[in-house]
Amino acid sequence: MEFYLDTANIDEIKEAVSWGVINGVTTNPTLVAREEGRSFHEIIKEICNLVQGPVSAEVISMDLDGILKEARELAALDPHVVVKIPITPQGLAAVRILSGEGVHVNVTLVFSALQALLAARAGAAYVSPFIGRIDDTGQEGIDVLCDIMDVVNNYQFTTRVIAASIRHPRHVLESARLGTDIATVPFKVLKQMFRHPLTDRGIERFLADWEKVMK
Ligand code: E4P
Repeated sequence: MEFYLDTANIDEIKEAVSWGVINGVTTNPTLVAREEGRSFHEIIKEICNLVQGPVSAEVISMDLDGILKEARELAALDPHVVVKIPITPQGLAAVRILSGEGVHVNVTLVFSALQALLAARAGAAYVSPFIGRIDDTGQEGIDVLCDIMDVVNNYQFTTRVIAASIRHPRHVLESARLGTDIATVPFKVLKQMFRHPLTDRGIERFLADWEKVMK
C-alpha cells in the first residue's frame, strides 16, 4: 500500500516527506482554501517539487469545455500533477479525452462501486472512494471499498484505488486488508499510525536502563 498525504499544507507535507513514507499528495478545493494568501497553481507546483510523486489537483468547472481547459492548465504545471475530476457525465467525458492525451486523472467524490466501474471504464488512472463520508450517512464505507476492490480487480482495469476521506487509523488498516492500492491520509491520522503506548513505554525504559550502563 502507498500512502498519500491529504492536505495542501506545505509544512505538513515537508515533515511527512522527511519521514520517508509519503508517495504522493491529494488536495481538494476545501484543503486549498485553508492555505490563504497563495495562488492555487503556486501551491500545486511547490507540492510537486517537494513530493516528486503524484499530486492531485482538482478542477472546479462542471461543463466539459471548462473541465478540459482547467485540466490541461493543471497538467502543464508539472509532470507529477494528477487532475482530479468529480464523477459526473461531463467529468467522465473529460476523463476519456484527457486519458487519451496522456493526462492522469483521479476521479473523485466516488461513493459506490458502480461509480468506480464507470470511472475505470472511462480511463481513470485513479478512483477515490470517500470512506469517512460514506460512514457519515450510516452506511459502511469499508463495505463499499470492498465492493470497489472486487469489481475493479474482476476486470483487470489499470485504475488504482485510493481510499479517501480517511478519518482514523482503523480506516487505513481495513483498506490495507482489502489490498487497496493507496490510502490518502490527513496528517493527524499519519501521526496516529506511528503511535503505540508500548513503543513510548519501551523507549522510556530503554533510555532509563541505559543510564545504569557503565560508559
Ligand atoms: C480525497 O481525495 C479528499 O481530498 C479527501 O479525502 C476528503 O476527505 P474529507 O471527507 O475528510 O473532506
